[in-house]
Amino acid sequence: MRKTLFGGAARAAPAFALALAVAAPALAEDEHEFAPLPPGEGAEETFYACQACHSLRTVTNGGYSRRVWDELLDWMVEEQGMPELDPEEREIILTYLAEHVGEDWAGN
Ligand code: HEC
Repeated sequence: MRKTLFGGAARAAPAFALALAVAAPALAEDEHEFAPLPPGEGAEETFYACQACHSLRTVTNGGYSRRVWDELLDWMVEEQGMPELDPEEREIILTYLAEHVGEDWAGN
């Protein structure tokens, strides 16, 4: 009985270890890939558009309404030298900011 039990565990162990090795980094990546930005649709676009000049903490300090984010994006382009975003990408980023780092955002 005992022998069977250990035999079974020994056979199962490598498969279990492999599953963990595959699953663990994927999970961590999902949760932290664009940190400190909260996860959500548009986090990737925002990450790459906004990290070039300053910490993303500058972004997560936010908590602005959509209108204010809209103005901030204009200000970033007109006064801070941010390359103009194409309209589709700007919309994705603006929606991300308003929904995920918007007025209800409590910070991280
Ligand atoms: C080309 C450089 C550049 C890029 C790209 C850029 N910023 Fe900025 N941003 C600045 C500078 C310069 C400041 C002012 C100095 C600082 O706070 O570091 C600033 C400040 C800010 C601030 C603080 C504003 C305030 O009132 O204090 C926010 C919020 C911000 N940026 C958001 C963003 C977001 C969101 C993006 C991406 C869509 C972005 N920035 C991309 C240059 C940039």
